[in-house]
Amino acid sequence: MEKPRYYFIGDRRTVDLDFASLRFEYTDCPYRFEAVFEHGVWRVRGLLEDNQLRLPEGSQCLHYGQQLFEGMKAQTGADGKVYAFRPLDNARRMSRGAVYLRGPEVPEELFLRGVEEVVAANFPYIPPYGSGAALYLRPFYLGVGDNVGVKPASRFLFRIFVTPVGPYFRGGFGPDQGKSFMVSPLDRAAPHGTGHVKAGGNYACSFTPGCQAREAGFAEALYLDPAEHRFIEEIGAANFLGLKGRTLITPDSASILPSITRMSLMQIAAELFSWPTETRQIPLEELGELDAAACCGTAAVITWIREIVDGQRRWAFSFDERWRQLYDKLVGIQTATEEDPFGWRHEIPI
Ligand SMILES: Cc1ncc(COP(=O)(O)O)c(C=O)c1O
Repeated sequence: MEKPRYYFIGDRRTVDLDFASLRFEYTDCPYRFEAVFEHGVWRVRGLLEDNQLRLPEGSQCLHYGQQLFEGMKAQTGADGKVYAFRPLDNARRMSRGAVYLRGPEVPEELFLRGVEEVVAANFPYIPPYGSGAALYLRPFYLGVGDNVGVKPASRFLFRIFVTPVGPYFRGGFGPDQGKSFMVSPLDRAAPHGTGHVKAGGNYACSFTPGCQAREAGFAEALYLDPAEHRFIEEIGAANFLGLKGRTLITPDSASILPSITRMSLMQIAAELFSWPTETRQIPLEELGELDAAACCGTAAVITWIREIVDGQRRWAFSFDERWRQLYDKLVGIQTATEEDPFGWRHEIPI
């Protein structure tokens, strides 16, 4: 696909994109950031223009899934500055994954430098404040080398590309935007496997459950715990939230991805709203006792749940104003319409 062209308006370059009608899809941007790990050290390659990768055919990332990725957003604030949201938490999650997959950690300074450089280099693609769109960042990590045995690589590639995106679930946030989800009979993660790290293999095996759910008319698949199929795990690429009376609850499980959005919402609920919060196992049957349900993540932000279906069983929910309170506070902190008491906004020098 041809890259959108730059235009010059006054002294600021802009790009011919209709940000407000973007979907959650890839647009090729001019620059990506890259570093390589070789002979025990990370070396920065810097900003590259080519969106193609050239890899040795024996690379571990291609055969054994020695691969990690992250998803995060940079947004223009109401003050005109550009902010990434909690980038160090993404860096730490990637490094935890690297340790598990037996590769070197990505140093926090390297991760942050990449985030800052790649966002600044692609600044015409950063959606303006109020467009409802954001610049999505996709840091990723590959084990590479001339190899054929089942063993970890000694060379690694770290790259970040960016792409402007609209909302993940179309329609954005609001009382008429509730989604229906189907309980999947399949699993995305093993009880003691890699569900807690953002390894590509977890997502390849979510394609069948996700496609089955969409073919049946649902927005996504809801996963149960892989050991007993009793407890709620997560929904597609989003964590689960429930409101039970005054309490905000979310599943405790070693096989779900620890969502940075969820961590933020639980802290907002507890510390800014003084709501009781609980992180604990949630049996599927308990859906009948919840007042409201939602899922959350970088892409989904907060998406409220209208319905969950498991075969012949069905649980229906209505919109709860508390989802709006959480949404407004989170997005307000991200876009600088609210104070940032936790220091979550990271200003990108442009
Ligand atoms: C499986 C899974 N669960 C939850 C999330 C939400 O995590 P976060 O809020 O950090 O984007 C994601 C997205 O990264 C995910 O892939």
